[in-house]
Amino acid sequence: MASRVLSLSSACCLLLYFAAAVLAGRDFYKILGVSRSASIKDIKKAYRKLALQLHPDRNPDDPQAQDKFQDLGAAYEVLSDEEKRKQYDAYGEEGLKEGHHSSHGDIFSSFFGDFGFMFGGNPRQQDRNIPRGNDIVLDLDVTLEEVYSGNFVEVIRNKPVAKEAPGKRKCNCRQEMRTTQLGPGRFQMTQEVVCDECPNVKLVNEERTLEVEIEQGVRDDMEYPFIGEGEPHIDGEPGDLRFRIKVMKHPVFERRGDDLYTNVTISLVEALVGFEMDITHLDGHKVHIVRDKITKPGAKLWKKGEGLPNFDNNNIRGSLIVTFDVEFPREQLTEQQREGETPETHAWRLGLPLGLKQFMAEVRSVHWAAG
Ligand SMILES: *[C@@H]1O[C@H](CO)[C@@H](O)[C@H](O)[C@H]1NC(C)=O
Repeated sequence: MASRVLSLSSACCLLLYFAAAVLAGRDFYKILGVSRSASIKDIKKAYRKLALQLHPDRNPDDPQAQDKFQDLGAAYEVLSDEEKRKQYDAYGEEGLKEGHHSSHGDIFSSFFGDFGFMFGGNPRQQDRNIPRGNDIVLDLDVTLEEVYSGNFVEVIRNKPVAKEAPGKRKCNCRQEMRTTQLGPGRFQMTQEVVCDECPNVKLVNEERTLEVEIEQGVRDDMEYPFIGEGEPHIDGEPGDLRFRIKVMKHPVFERRGDDLYTNVTISLVEALVGFEMDITHLDGHKVHIVRDKITKPGAKLWKKGEGLPNFDNNNIRGSLIVTFDVEFPREQLTEQQREGETPETHAWRLGLPLGLKQFMAEVRSVHWAAG
């Protein structure tokens, strides 16, 4: 477009051209489908979801599949790196320093393992003749906070990887029958082990960072597989590594399906005259509770939509169920106190505002109700 000999007017054109190139650089936010203020968690989540959809092996009929997948990898590489993201935000794709590109394959396998085995039309399970290393299942403890908000956990795995080594080794060993003729009409069959010669390999530990997504609403015992990240097999394929979710007990909230249960202890006064309070939820937001009626011990209050997000549809949420316990005064009344008792002195001892006779009837009914 720009001619080699620059006149004043073409220099001006060139400037415009550069400005346009910056604007025309790839929009990494759009590629990942996230907003410009997206958190690193949002970016990882978007990448993980799209990478599976856009993987070229899954889209053999789309001639642009490779390009789309490359764009996705580039978008992730830049936006997941704080420094690169700053440069990109300020100057666009052209503003990024060239070099030190990590390969998209590495990014992809940190989320899914070595999927090369899996795609491409032949799921690896089908070929029974290829020996396979053992699968590894690891329990991954997750907090209820993580189940509520979702999270990514980075796991560093020291993975034994087969590397070429000098020399040869026996491989593909199998039993074969050998028939020897001992005389007319007499044969002897013997079984022997026959092997091929293969290039030697040694197992070398390689450090891999795996990104395990804890999806919102994930349930106990759900598994996240990382293909080919399990035990290696020297003559075949490695097994898989699977993380099994174990949701830890929470001190305040108890999970039942998508519902959350919690207990709140209120004072007798609050039980009688009503109260307002905030319950701090798993992500720190406050759930406001107002009661202007009598609250009996064991009374339950349902807050729709304040439970856990449903695993299959995060827009659906369970309920938060608050069970109230009422704290009664501990000390017993003496005989004297009982005799001299008027509603007012009773109220005073319980720390109630005086002159609330109507409430005293309620105090008693609450007492009886509590058994
Ligand atoms: C609430 O109290 C009940 C009865 O004491 C108990 O079984 C339950 O585990 C408590 N729930 C929580 C979340 O502490």
